[in-house]
Amino acid sequence: MRARLKKTVVMVGMMGAGKTAVGKALAAALHAPFLDSDAEIEKAANMTIPEIFERDGESFFRVKERQVIARLLEEKKGVLSTGGGAFLAAENRDLITSKGVSVWLNADLDLLWSRVKHKDTRPLLRVPDPLSALTKLYHDRVPIYAQADLTVVSEPGLSIDDMAERVIAAL
Ligand code: S3P
Repeated sequence: MRARLKKTVVMVGMMGAGKTAVGKALAAALHAPFLDSDAEIEKAANMTIPEIFERDGESFFRVKERQVIARLLEEKKGVLSTGGGAFLAAENRDLITSKGVSVWLNADLDLLWSRVKHKDTRPLLRVPDPLSALTKLYHDRVPIYAQADLTVVSEPGLSIDDMAERVIAAL
């Protein structure tokens, strides 16, 4: 399927929602560049996200995240996958809403947990009780993600390409 992008499509939502995987499939389907704010932050710092959190702290990461998102939205149109916390900052939300179309990939807690529980790449889940941490983040964040322009529900059993098709249908 081919569609012309008028604005950058910005994937938002919790860790484990599939923002990167679906974003890549969507970009391929739309013949548009794929952009990834976490990957850009890691590239610029030459460090992984856990290393950045550990060395410089979350607030430093959030400053870099804001700068990278602003730059990517300015530079080119495409599909932009953001980290799970990006849409929470009002400044990011305003920018994303003015320059892009935000798409919340809405997956329920069970699905999110099943995807993130075996990975050690999320600093916010490197705590003694990661399921409680994820649950709290989920409940705190859902009302904010719900402010996205579009919501696409992720369900178990849907492939990445199915999800990309759902996003295209919603655009
Ligand atoms: C974060 C999610 C991560 C990454 C960082 C913080 C969050 O991205 O940006 O660990 O606050 O939810 P993913 O959503 O791609 O895991």
